[in-house]
Amino acid sequence: MKRSISLHKILLIGFVVLIAACSHTKDQPSTSEKLNVSQKVEESAQKTTSVADNNSITSIIHLDEEVNADAMFETVRFLAEQPREAGTEGEKRAVDYIEKQFQSLGYETELEPIPLVDFKEKKRELKINDKTIDGDIRAFLGSQASGKVTAELVDVGKAQFGEVGDEVEGKITLIEIGSSPYYEQIETVIKRGAVGAILYSNMTSESFDVYLQDKQNLPGVTITQHQGQKIAKQLKDGPITAKIDVEIETIQTNSYNVIATLKPNATEDTGQIISIGAHHDSVPDGPGANDDASGVSVVLELARIFAKKRVDTEIRFMTFGAEEIGLVGSYQYEYNLSVEEKFNMVSHFQLDMVGAESAGGKHPAGGLIMYTLDGKPNIVTDLGAAASVDVFSNAIPYGESGRSDHQPFHESEIPAALFIHTPLEPDYHQPSDTIDKISKEKLKQVAEVVAAAVNTIVSPETPKIARKKDIPAAVEYEYEEREL
Ligand code: BES
Ligand code: ZN
Repeated sequence: MKRSISLHKILLIGFVVLIAACSHTKDQPSTSEKLNVSQKVEESAQKTTSVADNNSITSIIHLDEEVNADAMFETVRFLAEQPREAGTEGEKRAVDYIEKQFQSLGYETELEPIPLVDFKEKKRELKINDKTIDGDIRAFLGSQASGKVTAELVDVGKAQFGEVGDEVEGKITLIEIGSSPYYEQIETVIKRGAVGAILYSNMTSESFDVYLQDKQNLPGVTITQHQGQKIAKQLKDGPITAKIDVEIETIQTNSYNVIATLKPNATEDTGQIISIGAHHDSVPDGPGANDDASGVSVVLELARIFAKKRVDTEIRFMTFGAEEIGLVGSYQYEYNLSVEEKFNMVSHFQLDMVGAESAGGKHPAGGLIMYTLDGKPNIVTDLGAAASVDVFSNAIPYGESGRSDHQPFHESEIPAALFIHTPLEPDYHQPSDTIDKISKEKLKQVAEVVAAAVNTIVSPETPKIARKKDIPAAVEYEYEEREL
């Protein structure tokens, strides 16, 4: 059962005091050493004089840098001029633009290719006793799915392992999907020497996509339930010769992750890393102004703001490809992180859909909320909430959701949160997700919140944060179960 509203407890004064106190003489616990917060807070409470000694709190929570809303808006405008589906020219145009922007800010960049494979049906033909079956038919897809066979047809029902024998050798099989996954049914008939397959389903009346597995090489088609039942009935009245002729083109493309890294000052390096991400790909038919050119614009703006700052923590600015087809870019990125990098990564801030004028309903802060995978607060939400008080008059809430690139980070136990406005706008994944729906004010507010939160971690004035734990929230903020 989901929690309704729970209050995440705070140690506001302690946190601010802790930061302030540590600002004078920087006290860095080693990674193995866990920061005992209450103890630290108590210790630092006795050293509050250092607060007055310098402006650390102001420089940490407030960001003296002006966020450039016009620049962000221009980024969204350029990116949303055309769809950016993963692996297409549209995506590459966006990737080149993002990389050049990072480079013009003085960053070294890395383009990480994400290999994608797609299949295109070039030819399909099915004949039953020389009669062409027209209409709703699809060829099996896969790199070895092409082939031309004419053979006797055998009804193997649901093709359960152990129930299919040598009688299918050299034959085309008629299979009803169900009981076990279709690739197992296909494997069963391949093992028995079948040369082709015709699949139909009792779950859907239509034909459907079948993807052969890597080593499977069986030409086949899927047909409607009605056609399947008709052929099965016809087989009872006498033998059938079937012909399958299919040609499948394998299309290999690349999507990309774009990564720009800001290295910390050598003498102040905490050894820790934070990442700030958005996805630059869009759905096929949508210009994706809000989803997620808006997030990319914030990432680039933060890259600009931090480019010349003295930091004690490495910052990785990144835009992911292939998010819309299953978080493929961010999963690849996470997969390639070393154990050490995963250990040192202390926060991931994900920005997805952060500029729509009409999103957020009547919720405060334009509907800005932070989602974590487990619905629990973490250092990212703590810092986001604290920073948001500065920008809005209240702290933004947190909630529970995946559905974006913070997911792989969470799975690697890196504290991560998605910043997004909910409820979503009606243009979500629509061709109407265009630049005219974007609010400069919203982009600016989100950039200010995340910049301040990030600054709290990377500023040499703040202590090294204890590994993923024990970071007290600076403000009270609430769990909220909100309509998406
Ligand atoms: N921008 C959305 C993510 C999103 C939407 C997060 C609503 C939270 C609430 C993202 O680009 C998207 O559409 N994600 C897919 C899932 C993904 C795994 C393909 C989705 O939510 O359908
Ligand atoms: Zn998105």
